[in-house]
Amino acid sequence: MAEHHPETPAVSFGEKHYFVIRRLHSLTGLVPVGVFLCFHLLANASILAARDGSEFQKSVERIHALGPFLFPVEMIGIWIPLAFHALLGFQIIFTAEMNTQQYRYGGNVRYMLQRTTGMIAFFFIIYHAWQMHWFGAPLGGGFFRAHDDGGAPAAAATTARTIQAAWWIAPLYAVGILASVFHLANGIWTSLITWGITIRPQSQRAAGYVCTVFGVLLAVVGMGALSGFRTFRLPPGSEGGAGRAASTQTAHAP
Ligand code: HEM
Ligand code: HEM
Repeated sequence: MAEHHPETPAVSFGEKHYFVIRRLHSLTGLVPVGVFLCFHLLANASILAARDGSEFQKSVERIHALGPFLFPVEMIGIWIPLAFHALLGFQIIFTAEMNTQQYRYGGNVRYMLQRTTGMIAFFFIIYHAWQMHWFGAPLGGGFFRAHDDGGAPAAAATTARTIQAAWWIAPLYAVGILASVFHLANGIWTSLITWGITIRPQSQRAAGYVCTVFGVLLAVVGMGALSGFRTFRLPPGSEGGAGRAASTQTAHAP
């Protein structure tokens, strides 16, 4: 067992495993959180494929087919990695000297934007999950429903109703989408440096173009989805059996 000499500064667990922890931070941002974001925005964009919401309903059914496995899959596949990434993200933000390495060839603006968009994504996700996810229900949220009480499809109507519930919700979603997408696209660029894949300035520049194109495409998908829900025609009188979302249409915007 190693003896601790008074002249040797005590090394904390975090410092000792810093390299591995930073790699895990990078990895969780890419897989599963980054992959989730891509699939989530694509699934939401299916609202544009059929204006009656049937394609979006199908996307939701495919995920909900996991039945009792849905909750553990969501926890292990999204929430735990996201919580780890976000917590460490805040730690990095509040101890700023830790990283300037990756931006040697980049620029401080993107360095700052990566941190700002991470924080915006954090608050957006909390608000969004409260609003849409069933676990927001005890706190007055949880407006999304895959089916109404009679079992009829309600995914598109409840999502659209939530987004249309107040004038400021769609702009807030636009900010959440654009921040998350920038954060992912710029994050992929920095992660290529983190993992030693793009080392030379030339390869970093080339990766920059690819990440920009990726980010623009994903932003178009996300904003397309948003506009699909914002303009979705809600059936008169509340329908899609949106259940509590229907009854809270005017009441729920905090
Ligand atoms: C057009 C924009 C968006 C729409 C219409 C939308 C819609 C939804 C809906 C309906 C749910 C509930 C799904 C369910 O319970 O089965 C949900 C969950 C979720 N959304 Fe979004 N979303 C959008 C953008 C975003 C963005 C930008 C993020 C950022 C990362 C995000 C992160 C999440 C997360 C983490 C969950 C919980 C996932 C889970 O536990 O299964 N969403 N979203
Ligand atoms: C929308 C969900 C998110 C995705 C897809 C995501 C993805 C990523 C990726 C891929 C990276 C690059 C890692 C690297 O350079 O190796 C990154 C970095 C970062 N993320 Fe996230 N992230 C998300 C949410 C968050 C949240 C909620 C925070 C909390 C503040 C956060 C804070 C950070 C910070 C500070 C960095 C920069 C780390 C550094 O300077 O090295 N991220 N993220």
